[in-house]
Amino acid sequence: MAEIKKVGIVGCGLMGHGIAQVVATAGYDVVVREVDDATLQKGLGKIEKQLARAVEKGKSTQEDADAIRARLNGTTDYADFADADLIIEAITENLGLKLEMWKELDAIVKPDAIFATNTSSLAVIDQAASTSRPTLFAGLHFFNPAQVMKLVEVVRGVTTTDETFDAVLAFAESLQGKIAIPTRDKAGFIVNRLLVPYMLDAMRAYEEGVGSIAEIDAAMKAGAGHPMGPLTLADLVGNDTTGAICDVLFDEFRERRFAQPPILRKMLSAGWYGRKAGIGFYDYSGDEPVENPGLAR
Ligand code: CAA
Repeated sequence: MAEIKKVGIVGCGLMGHGIAQVVATAGYDVVVREVDDATLQKGLGKIEKQLARAVEKGKSTQEDADAIRARLNGTTDYADFADADLIIEAITENLGLKLEMWKELDAIVKPDAIFATNTSSLAVIDQAASTSRPTLFAGLHFFNPAQVMKLVEVVRGVTTTDETFDAVLAFAESLQGKIAIPTRDKAGFIVNRLLVPYMLDAMRAYEEGVGSIAEIDAAMKAGAGHPMGPLTLADLVGNDTTGAICDVLFDEFRERRFAQPPILRKMLSAGWYGRKAGIGFYDYSGDEPVENPGLAR
């Protein structure tokens, strides 16, 4: 197994751009891939904005920000991953799409490179088993916003060897400010197993009229010390992502606590995916978010 120097990241969206920034900040060479140039430039633009903000705030020097940016290369071509030592996938939470992607990458990336998935809920083994390198496969689960949240869950699949696991754990620990916590390959790992039912319960509480969207959020901030309320959080995570995660958890455990509440199903049909769509539990089109009026209809 090669020493990790170059990291390929698949996806430069909500999670991928943050992961790319964090990994480049830690001194690794990064190549991040998107499906087309416009999407890639959007993701790279977000990173550049964050780097510029860090300089403005005096949290980073211009020299350091430039060095981080210089370590980051964008591509639309998987061929640029051929000599990467570690690949982290951060694409849509859809097993079919992930399997297609690994199939393509498996044929291109050098055989001793490690593959890691940033899946929020899918079993690591289901992806590992589709590649020719199930022993070199693990989970590296980052949290949104990846630049800020300290945790990385490091997931040991049933086929992950000790050597692979130790290498990805050491990699996660090498990322500045991150806390790496090992977990076993159980759907939802530690955080989403606990966090997703909490967000779904907040949706049910809203449906049952316990409080308004803003009241439920304000109550959990003021009453439980959470940095943001559960419905604001659902909008941050993306209601589409939360929907995909709870479908996986429900399929796995068949427990009501993981089932999509009707309000979530309707929001997904309406395209109200949250902050990234400009509308979710809140409407973000004005200066300040306001409760989505459509939900009261
Ligand atoms: N990208 C990069 N940096 C960001 C950011 C983003 N999207 N959002 C906020 N930040 C930075 C800000 O620039 C600011 O940095 P400085 O301290 O250097 O100024 C810092 O974070 C704090 O931001 P704000 O002052 O704007 O706001 P805040 O204090 O309310 O913090 C928050 C924002 C960090 C998002 C905080 O509200 C929080 O921790 N919320 C909970 C988030 C959470 O639970 N995430 C996990 C979601 S679950 C998940 O991701 C797993 C999954 O699989 C679905």
